[in-house]
Amino acid sequence: MPSSLILHSMRPAGYNRTDQHLETLHLALFGNPVAHSLSPEIHQAFADQYGLKLNYKLIVSTEKTFPEQLGQLQSLGARGCNITVPLKVPAHNIADTLSTAAGTAGAANTLVFQQNGVFADNTDGLGWLKDLTRADVSIKGKSVAIIGAGGAAAGITPIILAQSPDTLVIANRSPEKAAGLLQQQLNPNFRSISLQQLRQPGLPKFDLLVNATSIGHQGKHPELFPGLFNPEALLYDLNYGTAAQPLKNWCDNNGIRYRDGLGMLVEQAALAFTLWTGQSPETQAVLSDLRAKLRQKS
Ligand code: ATR
Repeated sequence: MPSSLILHSMRPAGYNRTDQHLETLHLALFGNPVAHSLSPEIHQAFADQYGLKLNYKLIVSTEKTFPEQLGQLQSLGARGCNITVPLKVPAHNIADTLSTAAGTAGAANTLVFQQNGVFADNTDGLGWLKDLTRADVSIKGKSVAIIGAGGAAAGITPIILAQSPDTLVIANRSPEKAAGLLQQQLNPNFRSISLQQLRQPGLPKFDLLVNATSIGHQGKHPELFPGLFNPEALLYDLNYGTAAQPLKNWCDNNGIRYRDGLGMLVEQAALAFTLWTGQSPETQAVLSDLRAKLRQKS
């Protein structure tokens, strides 16, 4: 058994088969890194709403160790798990059945252990849309841009397209990856460009601009300029915490409305919790608590 799983799978005091299967919810997050994840805290808050005990493991995993570790988690009686970078595509590939969202994105962030095998879903896109709706922003008929074309962008692109925007521009350092996300889209208003092309004339002004890059983890932000934004436009950053700070500062300095990805994190978790338990937890209070705690830490 890999040491990472041994470390995190110690059974709680008083463990027995009954509480493993009925009262205690056994869940986990696979990925690397996972140590700083807020998921244990979020799912604990959800479990508390239903009087459930929670055993949520953080499992450091690689593509190589993932299948065996997943099997071990299943044998412990877990309901399923969350998946983060870099395992969202392997998680999609390992599943026996896929939701439409996981199939379309080619990546999974949630696995559910069912009697007939492993079911994979991707709750990122819908979680993001729920948080966007909370911010009172709609997509239909609007002009939308995504900066970035990695896994995070892949999770939200199908949801944006399903909401019928007037325009969708995906800009990425590697433009061919952006083109990949818009394959089979014949609408000329849906197009992929390089980051440099954001500066070229002829682009519409955007109502919603989504930062789906990971540049914030390098302490930087994508190069943007106020002329890209319509008045009242929103910049939605899929990052949160310290990775979100550089772009938040830029938006504050340029008078651009900004929202970080903490709400999306809570909403995608709530959708995963529903898949595992059938319960739909209340999210607003959980988000407010989390935000207050993060503010105290910074
Ligand atoms: P995630 O799953 O978080 O989306 P990812 O799949 O590695 O992570 O994608 C990271 C995104 O940030 C990509 O769009 C990447 O651009 P490339 O596709 O060209 O690699 C973008 N990104 C990361 N660092 C960047 C940087 N310094 N400048 C511009 N784009 C960057």
